[in-house]
Amino acid sequence: MRTNPQSTAAPLETATPARHGRVTASALTSEDPVLRAAYRLCRRTTRVHDPAIHAIIQLAPAVLRPACWALWAAASVLDDLADQPDVEPALRAARVEAWTKALAHDLAVGASTDPVRNALVDTAARWRLDLSSLHGAMATTREDARGLRFTDWAQWRTWCNQGLVPWVEQVRHLFDQAGAPMPLRLDRQADYRRFIDGAQLTDTLTDLSIDLAQGHLLVPREAMESFPGAEADLTRRRWTPAVAALTADLTALARRWLTGPAMTRGMHPGAAIVLDTAAALMRLQLDAVDAAGPTLLARPPRPSAAARLRVLLPARLRTALAWNLTPLTVPAARPAAAVVKASDPGPTADDTALRPPPPHRDGARPPHIAAAKMPDHVAIIMDGNGRWAQQRGLVRQDGHRVGAAAAHEVIHGALEIGLRHLTLYAFSTENWKRDPEEVATILEMIHHELVEGPLRDLDIRKRWSGRPDRLPQDLVDALVREERRTRNRTGLTLTMCIDYSGRDEITRTAAALAQAASDGDVVPFLVGRDDVARHLPHPDMPDVDLLWRTGNEQRTSDFLPWHAAYAELYFTPDFWPDVDRRDLWQAITKYSRRQRRYGAATPTQNTTD
Ligand code: IPE
Ligand code: IPE
Ligand code: MG
Repeated sequence: MRTNPQSTAAPLETATPARHGRVTASALTSEDPVLRAAYRLCRRTTRVHDPAIHAIIQLAPAVLRPACWALWAAASVLDDLADQPDVEPALRAARVEAWTKALAHDLAVGASTDPVRNALVDTAARWRLDLSSLHGAMATTREDARGLRFTDWAQWRTWCNQGLVPWVEQVRHLFDQAGAPMPLRLDRQADYRRFIDGAQLTDTLTDLSIDLAQGHLLVPREAMESFPGAEADLTRRRWTPAVAALTADLTALARRWLTGPAMTRGMHPGAAIVLDTAAALMRLQLDAVDAAGPTLLARPPRPSAAARLRVLLPARLRTALAWNLTPLTVPAARPAAAVVKASDPGPTADDTALRPPPPHRDGARPPHIAAAKMPDHVAIIMDGNGRWAQQRGLVRQDGHRVGAAAAHEVIHGALEIGLRHLTLYAFSTENWKRDPEEVATILEMIHHELVEGPLRDLDIRKRWSGRPDRLPQDLVDALVREERRTRNRTGLTLTMCIDYSGRDEITRTAAALAQAASDGDVVPFLVGRDDVARHLPHPDMPDVDLLWRTGNEQRTSDFLPWHAAYAELYFTPDFWPDVDRRDLWQAITKYSRRQRRYGAATPTQNTTD
């Protein structure tokens, strides 16, 4: 229903949804030549340090790559500082610490004279990264500079996780911010941990020669015990049958960890391909370790370029296709000081700096609607996610994921046009009839949206309407927290209907009235409409002026029967994931031309849409 944006190479300073491949890294880094050079250096550093990581980053949407380079280059610089073979361990540790402290200073100032830190500071400001979670990882790198040995796998794992997981989490946050989340279902967390372990063990084996040269032996003693003599042989850097057997055992273990069951199920298809490809490349790396023999103790083995390309080429095609499904969001650059503030929220305080909604990717602006013609309250039945996905050969969950991006768009449009109330039908009491996987994805996405979604610091007061007794407790807690956190905001009131049914709402209202009557607070035969309205779960919710349903269905599916009793109805054929803010503006424009009579006589002039 919409033309593909042609002009997405927008300046960095404007928040812009973008499509994969249409925004180049240099467009992203704006007119500032210093910053552009800094990102280029980060890219080079990543490529030189780790070509496989560089190749994986190339699978990410173009808008996210500079941020990934900046993060990876920073991790590489720290690694290098910790690994300088000709420098005293204490001095190496001091250098890592000095770099870390300089980063803290640069983040507060909002710029850096060091190019890698400069790019990282820009990335943190732009994507609202809270880099404080990296402190632990950087401290681990410092320890790394002092020499290492592990007794058992648990100790090894703790060290690995401290060093790697915070960086991976930053990348996940980037994808989330861009609207291509990598959510991890609770029941998939164990797979995720195994995946991280597999990545770490692959690294440990690949870098064996470098580590040994520096006096580190990162293979835990517990693993070496089953191969008598292996530890001593490795320390002396001698390739013996014991070392060969140990290595084969460890590559097999790493392969098992990397081939865990579907950790990526339920993720955005693009994100899932990136992770699956990373696992495939690591398995190739393990093949190279297996094939290396004695040279494993001389230099890090590398798989052949041809083998890597066999994995990467199809992945490039598939990711390009997958990212094209989703308009991604490039947030506007913001001052670093605001980031520092946002990274330190109180448990319920709303101390986030509010920002305006990002503009439409083509620069579209809302129409002018006379105040008297503006609806006060628009309610939307966001229908068609499943059919949208099925038409494209995707699973229904993918439709919901892209549907979430459409919801962001429409909310941005509501803020821009100055709408006071927007109510979205997100999950009905009848939707529990669906496949549990689909239900779980929808509820997890809503949860994720509340906790980390890109709407957090817009001027939106969030409300929730629906049954409280069947939703997961952590979701209910998050909904209540968000209501409390945003209660003093004065912009748009956004009500999300989750496990909602209109009949259920009216039934609860009737029960509340009955209770009031039995308490003597109302007299049954005097009950009027106002009494009913006062006992609704949200008595302050205004009547719906415009009820819009997408997805080519003409029914209201038990949505807001009390509030929408006199609403103007508006049905559109498009599936919800294809909608953007211009469709909301169009709906409001059409509404503004309708005649609302509320039972009065037909006016002389008639307008239809
Ligand atoms: C609406 O899309 C979203 C929810 C009900 C959660 P659907 O999932 O109903 O999509 P269709 O109607 O099957 O296409
Ligand atoms: C209505 O959509 C509920 C939501 C949009 C959340 P459905 O797709 O579930 O509605 P019916 O059952 O087809 O009317
Ligand atoms: Mg439907």
